[in-house]
Amino acid sequence: MQKNDLILRVLNGEQTERVPVWMMRQAGRYLPDYMKLKAKYDFFTRVETPELATEITLQPVNQVGVDAAIIFSDILVIPQAMGLEVLMEEGKGPSLPRVIQTQKDIDALRTDGVEESLNYVTEALSLTKKELNGRVPLIGFAGAPWTILCYMVEGKGSKTWDKAKQFAYTQPLEAHNLLQKITDITIQYLIAQVKAGADLVQVFDSWAGSLSPADFKIYAQPYLLQIADALKPHAPVILFPKGTWHAIKDLGQSSAAGIGIDWCIDPATARAFAGNHITLQGNFDPAKLLAPIPDIRNAVKEMINGFGHHRYIANLGHGITPNVPVDHARAFVDAVKEFGVNPTYKK
Ligand code: CP3
Repeated sequence: MQKNDLILRVLNGEQTERVPVWMMRQAGRYLPDYMKLKAKYDFFTRVETPELATEITLQPVNQVGVDAAIIFSDILVIPQAMGLEVLMEEGKGPSLPRVIQTQKDIDALRTDGVEESLNYVTEALSLTKKELNGRVPLIGFAGAPWTILCYMVEGKGSKTWDKAKQFAYTQPLEAHNLLQKITDITIQYLIAQVKAGADLVQVFDSWAGSLSPADFKIYAQPYLLQIADALKPHAPVILFPKGTWHAIKDLGQSSAAGIGIDWCIDPATARAFAGNHITLQGNFDPAKLLAPIPDIRNAVKEMINGFGHHRYIANLGHGITPNVPVDHARAFVDAVKEFGVNPTYKK
């Protein structure tokens, strides 16, 4: 039985006794126990060993008190499973030695057996689900097609994503073929995650904001909507296209149960754009966790007042950074638990 199902009820549009809270990248380098495992095992060993992935997934639940667990993995397991090598070098971030440039490269990407090659993720989900024993819901995730294309074409992180955009603007047919191929695999992968125990899924479109509003509608939004439509019968979906305040209104009409919001829009405006029929999640500036604790608490209070107590999940506007003191992360979570109590809640 699910003992704490706050997030699931909020995504379902129900009133809850308080606002639930979790943090993107909540399992990571700001946690000393994570650093201990990081010192012993390289990144993909941690990701590919279900016992390690489970242990890491549970750390923020046990140590910070969040209302959901998100499976420890990475969005780049998809390009890996499709046959592209992915390296994770300390201090450098991810890199892909072989990148996509032509239709031939796209045709060579594997689509068969992708689910089997990602068995370690579904095993980690089943094991985590068992260990959680209903304490909090379990979140599965994948990268959005545009964000995955960005890495497949650039081969590493970028401030401008100009090579990925050049590919889209000079070879639009190939770009759409690639985006569709990633979309099809991602749908299968997310459904497999739900079958293995994920209670909801989030789609990270971290680099959606690199596109203009018009190009977002061409290269990102249609694929996000396909994923939301396909997952709807299986589990609630949260779409997080970072940096796209302009899309909130359209996505508010989609099959998604929730939309992730970054800190470049104020909560009341995001709510006005989205309407009242979709759950919003966000949007605390992760760097604000470096402020003094009393300031964090005040900012949390304002954020909740802006979004309202209904159809709202408190979170950061992007991933937590490694330099956040654990007691500041805890202060953020505790402040939501305190100020998020719904004064008008009726059972
Ligand atoms: O949220 C969680 O706690 C679950 C774990 C998670 C990781 N990556 C673990 C990770 C999630 C949800 C991701 C998603 C992810 N990965 C995204 C989308 C979210 C976002 O932040 O925009 C992206 C763009 C990636 C790609 C990626 N993986 C990058 C750019 C990096 C390097 C950046 C960095 O922080 O060093 C990674 C590596 C990575 N993935 C780490 C973790 C904890 C850090 C490496 C390590 O701990 O050894």
